[in-house]
This record gives sequence, structure tokens and C-alpha cells, in this order.
Amino acid sequence: MEKIIEERIRNKDLRAKVVTPAEAAALVNAGDTVGMAGFTAVGYPKAFPLALAARGEAGEKLGITLITGASVGDEIDGALSRAGVIARRYPYQTNADIRNRINAGDINYVDIHLSQVPTWIKQGIFGNIDFAVVEAAAIDENGNIIPTASIGCSDTLVRVADKVIVEISTAMPVGIEGLHDIYTCEKAPNTKPIPITKPGDRIGTTYIPCDPEKIAAIIFCDTVDGNSELQPADETMQAIAEHLITFLEKEVVAGRLSNPLPPLQSGVGGVANAVLSCLAESEFENLTVYTEVMQDAVLKLIDSGKVKMASATALTISPSGKKAVFENIDKYKDKIVLRPEEISNSPEIIKRLGLIAMNTALEADLSGNVNSTHVAGKRIMNGIGGSGDFARNAGLTIFTTASTAKGGELSCIVPQVSHVDHTEHDVDVIITEQGAADLRALTAFERAEVIIENCAHPKFRDELRAALEKAKSGDPIGHGLAFK
Ligand code: COA
Repeated sequence: MEKIIEERIRNKDLRAKVVTPAEAAALVNAGDTVGMAGFTAVGYPKAFPLALAARGEAGEKLGITLITGASVGDEIDGALSRAGVIARRYPYQTNADIRNRINAGDINYVDIHLSQVPTWIKQGIFGNIDFAVVEAAAIDENGNIIPTASIGCSDTLVRVADKVIVEISTAMPVGIEGLHDIYTCEKAPNTKPIPITKPGDRIGTTYIPCDPEKIAAIIFCDTVDGNSELQPADETMQAIAEHLITFLEKEVVAGRLSNPLPPLQSGVGGVANAVLSCLAESEFENLTVYTEVMQDAVLKLIDSGKVKMASATALTISPSGKKAVFENIDKYKDKIVLRPEEISNSPEIIKRLGLIAMNTALEADLSGNVNSTHVAGKRIMNGIGGSGDFARNAGLTIFTTASTAKGGELSCIVPQVSHVDHTEHDVDVIITEQGAADLRALTAFERAEVIIENCAHPKFRDELRAALEKAKSGDPIGHGLAFK
């Protein structure tokens, strides 16, 4: 252990701050606001939240406010919600146990654009941040923190929090140092232009700057990240991916998209991975990626030489891919950069780079509005995440969805969505396994027609056509589609 401490805590004075997870968790007071590292189920503390959950299970009423970069692993959202420790939760989650408690009204959840979170932390919108708890591969000579597989808003949390607890992950190689580029924006009115003009630009430090005086405790943990294996693309995902690539190819031929393509952003999950895997078979070369979450397909595209540079805030590689990447991490250091979410999701950079943004909808309507968050308008699924950051600001905004849900019982193309996350003004293209609807420069009626004919499942088309005809008779000019 002594050797590990020497290797992982390079600042000698800080070695005295090593404690057990239970001792670190005991520092938290009821009602505290705790910010934790993590973005997807990678790069988040594990031993600390489990120790905090144990206090909840022992009957303590902690009622903390929890802020993370985005979704995190079960050790945080699962264990802490099951133990009744969380009173308020920001800004995103994907865990079934916390989702059920949110939908039951037991936890107050606020779903926020991820690019907004660091800004609000700095402005004090969430109140005082009592603790920042961050996973680290190491602490350097000056007390600065070397993050692991994600950054999220850890840089801002560390800057603003009263105290910092560092959880050193021995499951992550020390060699990950150098992959990160930490640049934290100043608070308005002192915000400066972010000097990124290409996905690979490095503008900051390889560590999260941290005043060693703020470090209240250091703990060790050898638990691996909780992200799971990606399922192979099913027929629907594959068809969506193929329509999307065909659409991009046509745009290039028409001269509306450059080749090489502008940098790509893709959401998380099966469709996103299928799209990127499909790119491997396409004619496209010299691709770049500027996104939130980098999944396995991007690494394969890097290995095959198709992707030259990829920027993200989370390196969400499935367990089977991890060994190959982390054992050869140096090979990726000039091809991958991990940034704070304030930068990966920055509207300024997204706009400047003219990204192609590809995200998933739960449902889309005939005007082009998209619902990404609320099933039947009521039950929260995950949250808006970064989809709004990208959708509003990208050069080309694409939403994908299967045309039906629940075994074909429900149409995901509806007259009017039950909840709006992305308005018709931000949605350029909708793609289902049926085809692609390019909505740009179309009137409300034209959009509805192309969505029905290209994207809706054939068995729901007559119903949708009838709804459209009814709406037309109520508003013959068609500036807006009123279905009620
Ligand atoms: N009506 C009712 N239920 C629906 C539905 C609809 N139109 N569409 C999907 N569902 C249900 C599915 O049946 C499934 O239910 P289950 O959990 O009971 O099986 C659930 O919603 C999830 O659907 P699925 O198709 O598996 O979703 P997904 O994994 O492709 O994720 C989102 C889709 C929209 C939930 C997800 O992409 C998301 O959270 N997006 C917002 C955040 C985001 O875009 N982040 C990335 C930005 S960088």
C-alpha cells in the first residue's frame, strides 16, 4: 500500500490525509450539497457514496443535494437513492432506482442542460457547494488532481466547493495522465472566448487545479467503472444508421455538407454506436468527433484511421474494450482529448465547429418538435442531458427514433408531442428506420407531410394523415398545426 500511496499521491504532505471511506463519508452533514465526479458510469467515485449510503441505511436522515456532471454509476444514484440519502438531484440521471423515486415524488429532480451546470455552480444557483468528491488516477506534486475516464463538471466543483475529497482509483492506470485538457471558464462578466477552433485543440492543463489546503480527505478504491457492455445493433438501429449515412452522403453530393464532414456529435446508446459503426463501412474519411460521450465505435474508427481526432468529456468504453485501450493509452493521447462538460458542450464551440449533432428522441411530432425526456409527458426517463446544447447550436441537427415503441403498439411519430424538449426550430432532420425527413426550409404543412410519409410506421400513417387534414381545416394557412 505504501508504494501505491507514493505513486498515486505525489505531494508528500497530502499522504497524511489518507483515511477510510467511512471516515471520509462521516465529514458530510445532513443537508449538505455534495458535488460528485462522473459522466455516464465512468470516472465517478464508488467507495465514498457506498460509505455515505451505509449512513443512510443505518437510519441517518442526511437529505443531501447531489450534483454530478451527468449520469453516474449505481454506487451513487442507485445506492444513495435506495438508502434515502438524496433530497435533491441535479442535472441528469439514467438509473432505474433513482428514476422511480423521482417519479414517485420522493426526490426533487431538476433536469438541466449540461452546459449550464458549471455556469450555475459558479453563479451560486445551487447554493453553497460543501463538498466536491472526485475520482482521480493520482494527485500531482502540487496537489492538483489527475482525473480518470470522465471530467463532467469536476473542475468547477473543485474550484467552488468548500472542501474536496479525492477518491483515488487504482483500477485506472496512472498513465491516463495527459489525456485531459482542463479549461474552466470565468464567471460572467469576465468570460473570455474559448480558443478552440478544431476538435483537437488543447487550451488548458492536464490536471484539475486544486488548492491542497482544500483537500479534506483522500481515499482509495479499486472498483472498476460500472458501465456495461453495449448490445449489438438490432435491425431497427441498423436501418436508422444506414438512413443517416445515406442522408449525409446525399448532402455531400448536393454540396450542402463538406467532405471531410464537419465534426460529429452523437448521443449515447445503441443507435449512436450503430451510426458510428456504420461510418466505418462508408466512404467517409478524415473524420473528427466533438462530442460528450465517446463509446467503443469511436475507438474502432480511430484504430482504423477513419477518425483523426476525437474530443469528449467521457471515455465510456465497454468492459471488453477497456483493456486494449488502457494498456495502450499512450497511443491515443494525440487522438483523444477529454474536456470539462463546460467545453465539450459549449454552445460557442458547437456553433463555431458547425457540428453534425445526432441524438435520440422518445417521440417526435408532425411540426418537428421532439420529446427526449418524458414518457407520455409525465414520467421522466433520463433528462435532456447534452442533447439541447447540441441541438440548438449545431450546424446540422438530426434526431433519430424508432418509428414505434412498446412492441409496435405506440407510434413515436405523433400529431403533438406530450412534452417538448427540442422545438421545431432546432430540429433539422428526423430519421426512423422508415427513412429520413429533411425539415429545413419547409412550412408546417410540408414538414408534417414529409414526416408522415418518410418516418412514420405505415400502420400509423392513415391516422396521422387524418389528424393533419383536420388540423389543416382548422388553420388553412398553416403557420402552426393546431391539433386540439
Ligand atoms: N412512448 C412511450 N414510451 C416510449 C416511447 C414512446 N414514444 N419511446 C420509447 N419509449 C420507452 C421504451 O419502450 C423504453 O421503455 P422500457 O425502459 O420500459 O423498455 C424506454 O422508453 C426507453 O426507450 P429506448 O428506445 O430503449 O431508449 P434509448 O435507449 O434509445 O434512449 C432516450 C432514448 C431519448 C431516452 C435517450 O436517448 C435520452 O435519454 N436522451 C436524452 C439525453 C440525450 O440525448 N443525451 C445525449 C446527448 S449528448
